[in-house]
Amino acid sequence: MLPVFESMEKELEALQKNRRFRRLFDIGDRKGCRIEFEGRSLLNLSSNDYLGIGGDRIMTLEYLEEISGNEPHVALTSSSSRLLTGNHRFYGLLESMLAALYGREAALVFNSGYHANTGILPALSTRQDLVLSDKLNHASIIDGGRIAEAAFKRYRHLDYDHLEALLEENRGKHRQVFIVTESVFSMDGDLADLKKLVELKDRYRAMLIVDEAHGAGTFGRSGQGVCEATGLTKDIDIIIGTFGKAFASTGAYAVTDRLVRDYLVNTMRTLIFTTALPPVILGWSKKVLEQQRTMSDERRHLHSLAGMLREALQEKGMRTAGASQIVPVIMGTNENVVRADAALRNAGFLALPVRPPTVPENTARIRLSLRADIGWEDIAPIPGILHAIH
Ligand SMILES: Cc1ncc(COP(=O)(O)O)c(C=O)c1O
Repeated sequence: MLPVFESMEKELEALQKNRRFRRLFDIGDRKGCRIEFEGRSLLNLSSNDYLGIGGDRIMTLEYLEEISGNEPHVALTSSSSRLLTGNHRFYGLLESMLAALYGREAALVFNSGYHANTGILPALSTRQDLVLSDKLNHASIIDGGRIAEAAFKRYRHLDYDHLEALLEENRGKHRQVFIVTESVFSMDGDLADLKKLVELKDRYRAMLIVDEAHGAGTFGRSGQGVCEATGLTKDIDIIIGTFGKAFASTGAYAVTDRLVRDYLVNTMRTLIFTTALPPVILGWSKKVLEQQRTMSDERRHLHSLAGMLREALQEKGMRTAGASQIVPVIMGTNENVVRADAALRNAGFLALPVRPPTVPENTARIRLSLRADIGWEDIAPIPGILHAIH
């Protein structure tokens, strides 16, 4: 056996032993908020379809009819990179819509949030720069930092005194400092203090990049994200959003200044060296973006559900966190979450467990991802179920 296979086998055995072995599940059809999973229809609390648009059959059929009945034909592939023949005119329309929605000069669409985060920092930063990143930022931001030539340091999660100490310590030592944060943290559902970050970035002349992957569509009057809810859309240098979550499509975007957009088009490897998104997806993203602007009632409902669920969990003495539609229930050991997962599934809920290394040791959790197309009665039993196995 090749040495590499031997090591792989050993590592996988250790993962099995520690109940960390992951496998890919076959997922069946989605019907509204429900999903077919291992032959059963379960309430899907494991997706990022926060507004319920992904499960909205009527809207989906409406779009399919729009594109199938009409000429010109909307292709299922773009067959090349954006810089060759992949830049279908829907890109321009979508980017104009995004720039108008955020009231910013320009927008740029990418294949995914992963492409955005692994492409932007490497494109913008140089060896003379420094990236300061929240300790709990998403893996794609960390990977972007690894690829970038700039020095990469992490500040303690939401600890802006620590961030400021790093800014102070590095004052004058770099061409440019970049501060990168998520707005809604994906595993804890807590929020960055964007006001504080804008203050710091102004004071230290840093560039601020905010990933609104879980904030876009769920926060702000028109669904821009936490940047809109806090009135700071114009103060953040680059706002990143994804289409794969509340916007129920595929892809991601940055809204920023024209200069930054032009620079990224010329230098960003994950934009240049990859096949562009299919027009059929870009058209759907346009439709969803337009629709979601009007979904303030759904956003309010989503946050009210999250508040009620947090309260009910705390009443039962369960450990939860955050201030968004993502409600983690921190159960500690991997054994606990595996049991919680089974109990929830038995009761008709799909809320898959998140274990280390995705989250820190001893904070294995059930991550409840709420959605606007359900009511309190749908999730009311959950605190009791989790309490019983805790
Ligand atoms: C904060 C954050 N950024 C980026 C991504 C990646 O986005 P995408 O799924 O579009 O690659 C995710 C999740 O997947 C995320 O949670």
